[in-house]
Amino acid sequence: MKVLYIKASPKPNGESASHKMAGVFIEEYKKNNPKDEVVELNLHDKGCRYVNYEILCDSFERKGLMVETANKFIEYDKYIISSPMWNLSIPAILKAYIDLITVKGVTFEYNRLGIPIGLAKEKKAVYLGTRGGGYPFPLSLIAFDMRYIKYIFRFIGIKNFKSFILENIDKSPEKTKQNLEKNLKKVRKLARKF
Ligand SMILES: Cc1cc2nc3c(=O)[nH]c(=O)nc-3n(C[C@H](O)[C@H](O)[C@H](O)COP(=O)(O)O)c2cc1C
Repeated sequence: MKVLYIKASPKPNGESASHKMAGVFIEEYKKNNPKDEVVELNLHDKGCRYVNYEILCDSFERKGLMVETANKFIEYDKYIISSPMWNLSIPAILKAYIDLITVKGVTFEYNRLGIPIGLAKEKKAVYLGTRGGGYPFPLSLIAFDMRYIKYIFRFIGIKNFKSFILENIDKSPEKTKQNLEKNLKKVRKLARKF
């Protein structure tokens, strides 16, 4: 199995809560699936282009950056996405990446009724998210980070989707540490089932 790990926080490993959570997840995953290949895609390493007119026109001709990125993406069997919540949603760089991989003819198609059909079938994804604050109901209704990823992945055909969100990360450094330690057991459990 080929696993793509997509990292959205710009912080270095030692400073990022979402990277830490994903690091623990991947360590446990590798322990249980030693033959699988886990490829890391840190979106901040090379940056991520926004789709402009030229890139868009190329994609209509089935060439260029969108088609290449989507073709690379769809080669994987499983996806691990780690991301902080930014302004109730995901960092723009992760959205820019999603704009590059959501390509008609590669990751989705329209059927004869015009209904979109995902082409990335038989795949799995897990979203490991962190939030500075807490979002109990009804605040949960305005937390779009995980929900957006869940539904855009479903749009491209990935229905097997799990998530784990760590909230209240920014309350205090001491609390954050305790909060992380308390929840890493759950993260490991999720990794064993992935
Ligand atoms: C630009 C920016 C926007 C943020 N917006 C939110 C927000 O809307 N809600 C929230 O709970 N936390 C917000 N935060 C806090 C982050 O979610 C929190 O610090 C992060 O989850 C920690 O993850 P990381 O260490 O992996 O980057 C924001 C942080 C930044 C830098």
